[in-house]
Amino acid sequence: MSPGRIARAAAAAVFTLLLAGCAGGQEALPAFYRTRPVFEQPFAHQRVPRGLKTLSAAECGSCHVQIYREWRQSVHAQAWADPQFQGELHKQPGVSWLCINCHTPLVNQLDSLVVRLQDGDVERPVKVRNARYDESLRDEAITCASCHVRDGAVEGPFGDTRAPHAVRKSAAFRSAELCLRCHQAVQTYPGKSFTCTFDTGNEWKAGPFAANGVVCQDCHMPPVERALVEGGPVRRVGMHGWIGSHLRKGGETLPALWDSLAARRPPGIELRADSVRAASPGAAVEWTVRAVNANAGHMLPTGDPERAVIVTLAALSAAGDTLAREDVRLGQRWEWWPAPRKLGDERLAPGAERAITLRLRAPAGAWTLGARAVNERISDANADFHRLAESYPRRTEVARVAVRPR
Ligand code: HEC
Ligand code: HEC
Ligand code: HEC
Ligand code: HEC
Ligand code: HEC
Repeated sequence: MSPGRIARAAAAAVFTLLLAGCAGGQEALPAFYRTRPVFEQPFAHQRVPRGLKTLSAAECGSCHVQIYREWRQSVHAQAWADPQFQGELHKQPGVSWLCINCHTPLVNQLDSLVVRLQDGDVERPVKVRNARYDESLRDEAITCASCHVRDGAVEGPFGDTRAPHAVRKSAAFRSAELCLRCHQAVQTYPGKSFTCTFDTGNEWKAGPFAANGVVCQDCHMPPVERALVEGGPVRRVGMHGWIGSHLRKGGETLPALWDSLAARRPPGIELRADSVRAASPGAAVEWTVRAVNANAGHMLPTGDPERAVIVTLAALSAAGDTLAREDVRLGQRWEWWPAPRKLGDERLAPGAERAITLRLRAPAGAWTLGARAVNERISDANADFHRLAESYPRRTEVARVAVRPR
């Protein structure tokens, strides 16, 4: 198709959108999106609820001070600015229309909308300009309005609040469904070297927590008793920090607050070490540590296939020399070329464990045993591929044990 025809088609589509916008409150998305899975569709354009001037997080935060501060530290607030996300978008501009439906999910946050795919190719979307694009709202990524504003009201879990803005009660806020819109998306794209593999929802459903009514919010938005606004009644409030992997993004504005949010969430992994008897020099020694998914409500790690928990066991001499070492990577292994293919999966289901054994000959003199677990977001090789700065947090230690032979 010639560029001229694309441009004309685009102009017609913009006109249709504007007309639809004039006709009613929540105008339709381009029909194209209805042919796609839910997670490839943005949330409809939202108007400002009565009583508010804008949809911006800063305005919400002028009253909901604590929640705003917490959200600001969260990965949700950084889902657009994230250097890895930006790196990947620029490498694969053709697929960016897919990514933004979760990372900046409201139509208000999208500079353009897709009306069709050229030759059915997901990497060749035909886009039209979105006349009601709000760039500053895009920069807020998964912002308050992305989850809370629908059909001219602020939705929330209570329904009995006295707010200066329109409110509507929605049961979704105490249900996993709200989260699964973005955290459950499994889709293959034939002929492409990418795939979508967020299976956290199904992992949770298959485990013991869903059956016992424990939802994502119970762990990732731990409850506190406090007022929603200064001077308001004390209520049960879910903290808005969404600590998951204990990995910072780097854009946190209040590091001490992030630390206090992280301290409320134990890491997923627990290291349970056997004791070891002192042995005469040269004798064979075995030390076993069990790495247990003690706290996660889904596979550990979950989500992005590059994530891993790396467990290292080591024996050290009194001088600090490494006498023996064992590294185990708990994660998925994928091949991306020529087509995405899962090669292996050594993650831990809820409650599952992996025994790791270190073998050595006891040295002369004093020695100790130690193990640690590190959550990794991205390997150094992949970080270099995306040209990420050294300062982008790639991994963090989440557990450590030490044992003295006796
Ligand atoms: C001018 C102050 C103010 C602003 C601005 C404001 N709120 Fe509120 N909001 C309140 C008050 C007051 C309440 C009710 C508190 C209570 O009764 O405990 C409330 C209640 C809520 C509730 C609970 C609703 C329910 O019944 O479950 C949610 C959710 C909420 N606000 C979100 C937001 C969001 C999102 C924004 C920005 C788009 C926002 N608020 C902007 C003052 C404000
Ligand atoms: C509109 C899409 C969307 C919704 C809805 C959503 N998330 Fe997320 N979530 C994301 C994206 C995107 C990221 C990753 C952002 C990044 O790393 O840049 C993320 C990251 C996370 C993380 C990872 C934190 C870490 O430290 O790595 C947790 C935990 C999380 N979300 C929990 C939740 C919970 C609980 C809910 C429901 C209350 C929820 N999310 C709703 C899109 C969403
Ligand atoms: C990823 C979705 C998401 C985003 C983004 C989000 N919230 Fe919430 N919000 C929730 C959920 C889920 C609850 C219910 C938590 C609970 O009660 O366990 C909630 C609850 C609330 C409540 C009622 C108190 C409570 O915890 O029940 C207020 C007020 C609120 N949010 C305001 C905000 C403001 C202000 C922002 C932005 C600074 C924001 N929210 C961003 C999902 C979100
Ligand atoms: C029983 C508590 C619990 C429940 C329920 C739970 N999670 Fe988690 N989640 C965790 C823990 C613990 C971690 C790992 C934290 C760590 O190791 O630093 C985690 C990590 C994550 C991560 C970051 C990726 C990773 O592997 O570190 C995401 C994303 C996430 N959870 C999303 C969800 C969603 C979505 C739901 C609901 C379907 C959910 N979680 C339910 C406890 C829970
Ligand atoms: C279905 C919703 C969805 C779509 C579509 C999506 N993401 Fe995400 N993205 C997430 C969630 C949820 C996370 C949280 C990480 C996790 O679960 O491990 C995330 C995390 C990320 C991260 C941070 C990884 C980390 O470990 O901290 C990057 C980078 C990213 N996404 C890039 C992209 C790119 C590029 C695209 C488009 C090709 C894309 N995403 C499409 C939901 C989505």
